[in-house]
Amino acid sequence: MSNINNLKVNHLKNPLGIDIKGNIFSFVTNEKGPFKASLFSQDKLIQSREVKLEESKAFSFKDPLEYNTNYKLVVDSSSSKAELNFETCIKLSSPFIKPKTKGIFSPIFFKNIKIDKEIKKARLYITGLGLYQAFINGKKVGNAYLTPGYNDYDYYLRYQTYDVTELLKLNEENKIEIHMGDGWYKGRIGINKPIEKGGNVFGDEYKLCLNLSVYYKDEKEKILTIESDQSWKVKKSKEVFNNIYDGEEIDYTLPDSSEEDVVITEEKYNLIPDYGALMVEKKILKPELYISPKGEQILDFKQNMVGFIRYKGDLKKDQELVITHGEVLQQKNFYNANYRTAKAILKYKGDGEKRIYEPKFTYFGFRYALITGLEKVDPKDFEGVVIYTDLEKTLKFKSDNQNINKLVKNCKWGQRGNFLDVPTDCPQRDERLGWTADTQVFVNTACYNMDTYIFYKKYLNDLRGDQTMYFNGDIPMYSPSLKKEAGEGGAVWADAGCIIPWNIYLNYGDKNLLESNYILMKDYAETLIKRDIEQGNKKLIFEGFTFGDWVAQDGVCPQSLFGGTDPKFIKCVYYYRSIELTSLAAKELGKNEDFEKYDKLKKEIYNAILDEYFSPTGKFCLDTQTAYVLSLHYKIYRNKERVIQDFKERIKKDFYRIKTGFTGTPLILLCLFDNGMDDYAYRILFNEKFPGWIYCIKLGATTIWERWNSLLEDGTISGINMNSFNHYAYGSVCETIYSRIVGLRNLSPGWKKVLIKPQINYRLKNVNFSFESISGKFEINWKCENEKFKLNVVIPNGVEAEIILPNNKNYVVAEGKYDYECEVEKSIYAPFSIETPIIDILNNENASKIFKELLPNSYSLATGENDEFKIENIKHLSNLIMFVDPKENVKKCDEELSKIRP
Ligand code: BGC
Repeated sequence: MSNINNLKVNHLKNPLGIDIKGNIFSFVTNEKGPFKASLFSQDKLIQSREVKLEESKAFSFKDPLEYNTNYKLVVDSSSSKAELNFETCIKLSSPFIKPKTKGIFSPIFFKNIKIDKEIKKARLYITGLGLYQAFINGKKVGNAYLTPGYNDYDYYLRYQTYDVTELLKLNEENKIEIHMGDGWYKGRIGINKPIEKGGNVFGDEYKLCLNLSVYYKDEKEKILTIESDQSWKVKKSKEVFNNIYDGEEIDYTLPDSSEEDVVITEEKYNLIPDYGALMVEKKILKPELYISPKGEQILDFKQNMVGFIRYKGDLKKDQELVITHGEVLQQKNFYNANYRTAKAILKYKGDGEKRIYEPKFTYFGFRYALITGLEKVDPKDFEGVVIYTDLEKTLKFKSDNQNINKLVKNCKWGQRGNFLDVPTDCPQRDERLGWTADTQVFVNTACYNMDTYIFYKKYLNDLRGDQTMYFNGDIPMYSPSLKKEAGEGGAVWADAGCIIPWNIYLNYGDKNLLESNYILMKDYAETLIKRDIEQGNKKLIFEGFTFGDWVAQDGVCPQSLFGGTDPKFIKCVYYYRSIELTSLAAKELGKNEDFEKYDKLKKEIYNAILDEYFSPTGKFCLDTQTAYVLSLHYKIYRNKERVIQDFKERIKKDFYRIKTGFTGTPLILLCLFDNGMDDYAYRILFNEKFPGWIYCIKLGATTIWERWNSLLEDGTISGINMNSFNHYAYGSVCETIYSRIVGLRNLSPGWKKVLIKPQINYRLKNVNFSFESISGKFEINWKCENEKFKLNVVIPNGVEAEIILPNNKNYVVAEGKYDYECEVEKSIYAPFSIETPIIDILNNENASKIFKELLPNSYSLATGENDEFKIENIKHLSNLIMFVDPKENVKKCDEELSKIRP
């Protein structure tokens, strides 16, 4: 095996149709280098350069490359060699065509071609508006769905490249057909868009642009080029209806329609080659049949999934199969009122022919499917096709706790279900938009779970498009903003413009990408500065919109949207944070003047926040969980200890449970772990009662929910207005699980320096973890056995790791395999005493028994109607006037509790 692995361009292996500029290369190696990277075209050396080990995560060649060229990159050291082949795109300049008659719904463009010489290779370069699926001789071209993807088509339009060599037949008529559907371009999209008004955001006519290049084996022969031009014909398809929210209807009994002419249409689209990761079929789920009390035939896919249902059974002539999607059952019956106006229905009307039924221009988020139109449903005729953007998985996690394992699994499903070209909030209701906060809070978790480089590179470009075309420097609430249908994002949402580029840089170490996104960060920073100046230049931002601590539990009512944390404080903190990140990026990129300016401003904002929100002696004047989280996480305080003490009190008053929303939740456990409150963090994470992550799992969650109370304890849905069962934002807790509990933290761009510091607790005994970073694979396995902690780590080449054991001993090591062992504190193996919060005692069978036996009156007090006693400890109870148990039993209880080894 070579010592140079994972050689990739733009994080892709052997892609076709990549751009001629802006490409970055990377590889993983266990050698020290330096390496020689040589770029060949047709065996001719074009460029070569030296690559140092630390550059191996992201290096480039001089731009531009040539269009339509096969390149070979060879990376070699004295002892190893690796190769990568890739092909650049053509400059697609074929005309756009459209049906001559406006109004044909979901048409098929077609043309027959004859090939009379042996083919060496054939490429189809294609794009369309709205969505297209191409077929050659009845076979689908490529494995992608929903192409050309989702973005603001007025900003750029991607064309894809397919290898179609195998689909073309020699000496026969080859039938090329391009089916088109509405998609995001033309179909209903956007919040509160009734079907009559929702469409045509980007245009109202289907358009197609393609180039089919066929290269003959005999090199002397010219290539055959077929373009979209006047020679194409178009006809109506059998699609009756399709759009993203409502689903698709196909009537196979419709007669074949007559062909019509196409016309060439002058278009000014900014055509760019695709980034290279398309939405493809990634998994197949087999359903079970469930008959509801109402007698409904329901398929249960056992997993909230995103994609569509494929039907392989038969339909007689005029038989109509209707599939309606839903996420949860209610009263054991089918339900989907939380999809709001999205109909999410698939309808097929049969003509008696045998075929496989699947939709072409829509997708659904669902676990259940209500089937009507079949007398008896055979679940074997159906499969759930999971589709998402084709990104590599990079993380494995397993622990001894099934709930935590399930949480990580649910988080990964949440990512799959919301990574369809755009990072969406949810995949099922009439929304599915690229909400900026949702993905900002999730970005680090996403980068642990998958190699998301390309996905976010595209999304950052989308943000930039919105910023420049519609928002004058600001960032929208969601992107694509649907031509400014979204408002300005406000704090936490719009700050995605600074937070995502910086985190993508930290995760993948690509300075070129940071450089190209710097303008996005800077323009947003300047927008904030302008806002501050307009408000009196106080280095504070009080006015303007923010969603605040969205759907937090400390708002005015359980369904509160904005939560209870002072929105002004949130605005000021995120002003500070975005300026800080812009200053860090400026520094990293050597933009010294900018760095000085933003660094100075950052300090001024910091001081202004202190003056506004902290007393001279350090008392923090806000008292919500999220306020404490922001203060501690961003290190904004006069007296850290006081903030910590007050935060602990707040959590205790909140019954040791989470109350935070979109702003506080992603950070709360990070903040607790980083400020010496590990036990608080574990208690919140492991809490099985409402509200909390495990509460959802206990109620059957297979993905992450939008709200802590998406389902109430009895399984009833808490409301339908804003209630999704596949909303990845709170899955951001996995960043804490990976970085603080497993303990692998990134300290420098591209994972070149890491900290491994497992923060352990009696509630978790072992973890097995691996993560394939851009610098190579980390492995961390740890376990707690009685009084011993054992850690095995594998550090990849070129990485420096600081390892801190639970006994605080630390080691700095380079690549290699290491085993450590240490004694742990008593609180880890014998955590119970009379100073343990009573809720923890009650959660442990043995501890609870001891408490009950030795202090029966206090036990009844604590388990009685007044919950207040549960947040106290036994020692506290024993000092109360109502304490009537024998005093000497308190000490005994303490001794017995301390013997428990959970
Ligand atoms: C979305 C959220 C989003 C929010 C804005 C909702 O409708 O689903 O996830 O961030 O609006 O507050």
